[in-house]
Amino acid sequence: MKSFFGKRKKKQTESLFKENEEIPQHIAIIMDGNGRWAQKKIMPRIAGHREGMNTVKKITKRASQLGVKVLTLYAFSTENWKRPDPEVNFLMQLPVDFFDAFVPDLIKENVKVQVIGFTDQLPVHTRKAVNQAIEDTKNNTGMILNFALNYGSRSEMLEATKRIAAQVQNGQLEIEEIDDSTFESQLMTAELGDYQNVDYMIRTSGEERISNFLLWQNAYSEFYFTKTLWPDFDETALEEAIGIYQKRHRRFGGL
Ligand code: IPE
Ligand code: IPE
Ligand code: MG
Repeated sequence: MKSFFGKRKKKQTESLFKENEEIPQHIAIIMDGNGRWAQKKIMPRIAGHREGMNTVKKITKRASQLGVKVLTLYAFSTENWKRPDPEVNFLMQLPVDFFDAFVPDLIKENVKVQVIGFTDQLPVHTRKAVNQAIEDTKNNTGMILNFALNYGSRSEMLEATKRIAAQVQNGQLEIEEIDDSTFESQLMTAELGDYQNVDYMIRTSGEERISNFLLWQNAYSEFYFTKTLWPDFDETALEEAIGIYQKRHRRFGGL
């Protein structure tokens, strides 16, 4: 009886993932559910954020090994300032601790750190840690680990629009010349070049919304929602998600 159920269970959870099939080049993750993870364990919400940081390390390593080109992680939105001060302060300290502990590993993995978001509004210590990590990994040629920190897509697009309008006003640009690439060149993701558009957007914790994340860049991405809370998401969960991507048929409006 036991072996029968054991066998059946294995079959049900068998991953579709195949390492030699297409790996999404740009994966973007809304790392959600840290607070609920902690609350379930009767711990303060910040304990969930700390555990979530370990998930970031695991997922970064695995994604890099699988050949992902860009991993964009939503770490703090322009709306997250609404949270109580102690939680915001903790979240602003996390990048400092994360890079302190993890930059040597990132260098070993050949991972290059980048950031998108309104970083000028971050506290000095956070900004310093991020800039140092960018500097320390700038010569790495492997996966780009792109943190969205104080990021909001509507503001990103409004700022892009203002800069394009200014170019028109100055006579540098004709209205008719404005196209996708004009707009993309003004987005915070411009540095990602060919990988600016997201292939696979993952959100943990069971929420099924986009929360102001990469609205332009997600135009044709595949979406994956899982009930797993971010601190419980691991290498196997990532592979499972990619396995599902590998079975999708992206049509981009064609057939
Ligand atoms: C995601 O976890 C991390 C951030 C938004 C910074 P949450 O803190 O949103 O956790 P839940 O959604 O409240 O469980
Ligand atoms: C989105 O999560 C932002 C990050 C993961 C950084 P939130 O928890 O802030 O999103 P909502 O409020 O549930 O939409
Ligand atoms: Mg949340």
